[in-house]
Amino acid sequence: MTAAGASLLEGLAALEGEGLAAIREAGDPEALESARVDFLGRNGRLSDVMRSIAGVEPEVRPEVGQRANAVKTALSEALEGRAEHLAADVAAGPEELVDVTMPARRRWIGGVHPVTRVIDEICDIFSDLGFSRVEGPEIESVWYNFTALNIPLDHPAADTMDTFYLDDGVVLRTHTSPMQARVMEAYQPPVRVMVPGLAYRRDSFDPSHAPAFEQLEGLAVDEGIDFIEFRSSIQHFVREFFGKETKSRFRPAFYPFTEPSAEVDVSCTVCQGSGCSTCKRTGWITIMGSGMVDPAVFEAVGYDPERYTGYAFGMGPGRIAMVRHGIPDMRLLYEGDVGFLEQFS
Ligand code: DAH
Repeated sequence: MTAAGASLLEGLAALEGEGLAAIREAGDPEALESARVDFLGRNGRLSDVMRSIAGVEPEVRPEVGQRANAVKTALSEALEGRAEHLAADVAAGPEELVDVTMPARRRWIGGVHPVTRVIDEICDIFSDLGFSRVEGPEIESVWYNFTALNIPLDHPAADTMDTFYLDDGVVLRTHTSPMQARVMEAYQPPVRVMVPGLAYRRDSFDPSHAPAFEQLEGLAVDEGIDFIEFRSSIQHFVREFFGKETKSRFRPAFYPFTEPSAEVDVSCTVCQGSGCSTCKRTGWITIMGSGMVDPAVFEAVGYDPERYTGYAFGMGPGRIAMVRHGIPDMRLLYEGDVGFLEQFS
């Protein structure tokens, strides 16, 4: 072996060692690529050696050439292995790349909608008085929505309940009261139920109306229920829900399915009765329609009106939530705007 050949072989050994080390230490695909260019690239160190082979004696060229090819294979295999390793690291997630100084994302905490909360609280209060909670269909027959409740379609009471007819005799219910008839048909007295749910009317969406809105119905039927039990149950609810100081009053009203009927007002919880914009300067806020169940309804569902009496009431939990939180526009309750709703959670 000539001196030139020997020094080329030494150079190749050093090149192999350094090349393998550079590949092993490459921490990401860019570093690995630059190691490849340094050692195996067209103008890299191995190409330099290849070019100088031409200058050594012909008898040592084959040996030096074989050695150079062996180094090339070793480096190429090492490159491939390292590339696979780095790719697997990327797929597994860049553990070392977590930036612990980055501000954390806020944890999303859901909340109960203010209307749902009103419904839940009212149902809880009535649950202490023996009422269970049931729900019913939003698509309702004319029979349950009007006829069984003693509302003839040509009666003025039906005018306020213009609704969406889906088919002959099928409507989107205009109130939750049809569940009174459904419950009484399904169960014998004593009956005490609360019925939350959506009701629909041909109303435009404005600050105090929505074409689809929540209602909460109550019904109690048994032997011997009188007006005093009715009134004291409602007063109990008012004190529990609005506060001990809140006063309530019954005003005569008319509903075809109750006789006598009353609208229930509570002293304004915002101004305590002195008069403000929430109570339209009257000092009172109407919270429900109610009354003693009309015997005609008992007859429609097959209850004996001589034996049973009861009371019923219906309220708008949306309006109650508006009063409770001082919400000026009903549409806010139905827009699903998280920025607005978050303040109640
Ligand atoms: N259903 C009536 C409405 O939507 C509200 C109502 C009034 C319900 C009196 C009742 C009741 O149960 O007794 O306007």
